[in-house]
Amino acid sequence: MGKRVSRKKVAEVGAVTIPIAQKFAPLLQEHKRIKFYYGGRAGGKSYAFADSLLLLARQKKILIACLREIQDSIKDSVHKLLCDRIAVFGLSDYRIYETRIENKVTGSKFIFKGLRDQDIQKIKSLEGVDIAWIEEAQTITKKSWSILDPTIRKDGSEIWISMNRETEHDPLWQLLAAKPDSRTLVCCCNYYDNPFCPEEIKIQAQKCRDENPDDYAHIWLGAPVSQAASRLIAAKDVKAAFEPKIDASDSPLVIGLDIARFGDDKTSFCFRRGRWCQRFETFSKLDNVEVADKAAFFIRQYQPQRVFMDIGGQGAGVYDILKDRGFGEIIRGVYFGAKAQQYERYVNRRAEMWGRLGEWLKEQPEPQLPFDDELFEELTAVNKKYDHYGRLQLEEKDELKKRLGRSPDKGDALALTFAEPVYDTGRPQLYGNGRVSVEDMFMENAKRRIKEW
Ligand SMILES: Nc1ncnc2c1ncn2[C@@H]1O[C@H](COP(=O)(O)OP(=O)(O)OP(=O)(O)O)[C@@H](O)[C@H]1O
Ligand SMILES: [Mg+2]
Repeated sequence: MGKRVSRKKVAEVGAVTIPIAQKFAPLLQEHKRIKFYYGGRAGGKSYAFADSLLLLARQKKILIACLREIQDSIKDSVHKLLCDRIAVFGLSDYRIYETRIENKVTGSKFIFKGLRDQDIQKIKSLEGVDIAWIEEAQTITKKSWSILDPTIRKDGSEIWISMNRETEHDPLWQLLAAKPDSRTLVCCCNYYDNPFCPEEIKIQAQKCRDENPDDYAHIWLGAPVSQAASRLIAAKDVKAAFEPKIDASDSPLVIGLDIARFGDDKTSFCFRRGRWCQRFETFSKLDNVEVADKAAFFIRQYQPQRVFMDIGGQGAGVYDILKDRGFGEIIRGVYFGAKAQQYERYVNRRAEMWGRLGEWLKEQPEPQLPFDDELFEELTAVNKKYDHYGRLQLEEKDELKKRLGRSPDKGDALALTFAEPVYDTGRPQLYGNGRVSVEDMFMENAKRRIKEW
């Protein structure tokens, strides 16, 4: 149940080992002007930022500004968190002062400031900053940002941002993360990405998920509030589908196959029988032949009536291989951008399949989905709109990817199972039963041609 725990990356300096969760590795390994981390409660953002900065400040002399919108006293800042982490790791090279922290060996310094009500003189003291960490960035105003951005001006300087999104209109989200440029890293981190997340927190998150899915999406998954109206699929429908109920179905098996386009995407297979979505299988970094091998294995093993696959990108190659291997009667290629079958209702195939998925979730009897945090997040993330003709349209995939921090691979695989209605017409014909090798098929063809002579 739930999601895997991400691997930990271990950074070592001197004799001290400080583990940094994998999702935060770019803090240490990449240079970006903006490193924008967002997500729900307990995603590990504050700890990872603190630990990474403590590590970097031990390596060379840097000036770090820990900023927030309002800081009436040092108690409001991350000063205490940094002190706690210094104590946990026993970093005796740090000296702690009331309003700053210094590294005795490298000369690095942490300073703490609130941005609101800063006069120009005080802001000028930030000009030599190497890394500015803006904590609770959802509260930063456009005005504060417009002063800060040009002030952090040292060559190679970075601005690290940690945010729990409040609304779609949070200024820094709009300015930096909604349409990030090449100098900006945007990464979503939730409690299930945090390998150190305490069990108690996970229990609280799961309780919230069961009792109030919309709150769960906001508090624990980092979704902005009051988005329910523009979402294609309501959190409550997905939650209802997670409730255990169906454990058998006579409906034919349909497989949806969404094939990874880019390095970070995953190839996902979704297995659905009528009202019962049985499971997902996801794979990373497979080449076309390997995806085709997996698909061939699933077809032979589970004998689906149909496999619908995305052939917009890489998928076309996989489709060709499967067809060549004799699975032509089972597989169907789908272009997400193609004209919808019901073109008077949907702008394209993607909107059509997702629209049917949304209806499937709402219809009775309640459908069954395997419980999966990622699936929940993906299904409830998609925004809808309508074109001039009142046809359903989904938001651009790139927009969705930026918001979600990844491609909705499982959601797309499930949506693909709705590409066309599938009826049980008996066992589909596999060319050569799908069980013969390419060589066998070649021989079959050769024999037939000789006969025809
Ligand atoms: N490196 C770590 N070592 C030990 N525990 C950790 C570490 N990172 C995170 N945790 C645990 O996970 C919890 C959540 O982490 P953190 O407070 O950094 O999350 P966050 O994303 O800043 O969330 P919030 O929105 O609640 O501020 C911490 O309270 C702590 O218990
Ligand atoms: Mg935090």
